[in-house]
Amino acid sequence: MSNEKAAEAAAIIREVADLPYSTGLVLGSGLGAIADSVINPVRIPYADLPGFPVSRVSSHSGELIAGWLEGVPVVVLAGRAHFYETGNPGSMRVPIATLAALGCDTLILTNAAGSLRDEVGPGELMLITDHIAFSGINPLIGEPSEDRFVGMTGAYDKRLRGALHGAAEREGIALATGVYMWFSGPSFETPAEIRFARVVGADAVGMSTVPEVILGRFFGLKVAAISTITNFAAGMTGAELSHEETKRLGPVGAVKLERILRRFFQDRGLE
Ligand code: HPA
Repeated sequence: MSNEKAAEAAAIIREVADLPYSTGLVLGSGLGAIADSVINPVRIPYADLPGFPVSRVSSHSGELIAGWLEGVPVVVLAGRAHFYETGNPGSMRVPIATLAALGCDTLILTNAAGSLRDEVGPGELMLITDHIAFSGINPLIGEPSEDRFVGMTGAYDKRLRGALHGAAEREGIALATGVYMWFSGPSFETPAEIRFARVVGADAVGMSTVPEVILGRFFGLKVAAISTITNFAAGMTGAELSHEETKRLGPVGAVKLERILRRFFQDRGLE
């Protein structure tokens, strides 16, 4: 079902922008401006693509942008549907399947996250090395094929991580690394949950990305993911958390993230 919709969506995209796509890029909260760097952009609202979610989070526009980023043919997904919006962990299944149907072999995910580390504060970036799917939910539940038993040992591609680190270094931007722990949201975590998260090895917490990593691996894509830190996690400063803060601080990290991604794509364009 999702494959048929993805094939349909891919055909619609190819009709208006028939490029040799290699990379899909998912933009998280407050990071939408990165899509403005796409050259010769063709914009398609999710509402015009079969099986794509129509997001209701105010800072997520729900638009696919096809075009070139530093010489690399990309498909940017500006806006994602979260588990907390729909109760469906597979709400990004068709968009991710569409990237694969378009010929992409690489998926770069971005998000906003809360940091558990004192030295990685708001405005900083963290390259995700591994995750903890604390919600106990999985987007492949109900998937009938044997392919559902996706290996997750090397989910965050080592080569891509190396390339992103290299890009950050050349841009002179600090890029922390760490484990991202997925909480379902939409309420933020409690201070007790954050203390628990620290004990089990989390460096950042957030409400997205993990289902897309699993789906990306299911569809055979190489995956990398970067968090922009918008706040210290619950209980670390005594301040109450809010989505307003996420929206306000997302763009601070986004400026650095855009530079890293541009450099990463420049290098890829030369490959
Ligand atoms: N928790 C969960 N999701 C988030 C946070 C957080 O502290 N910050 C941004 N997204």
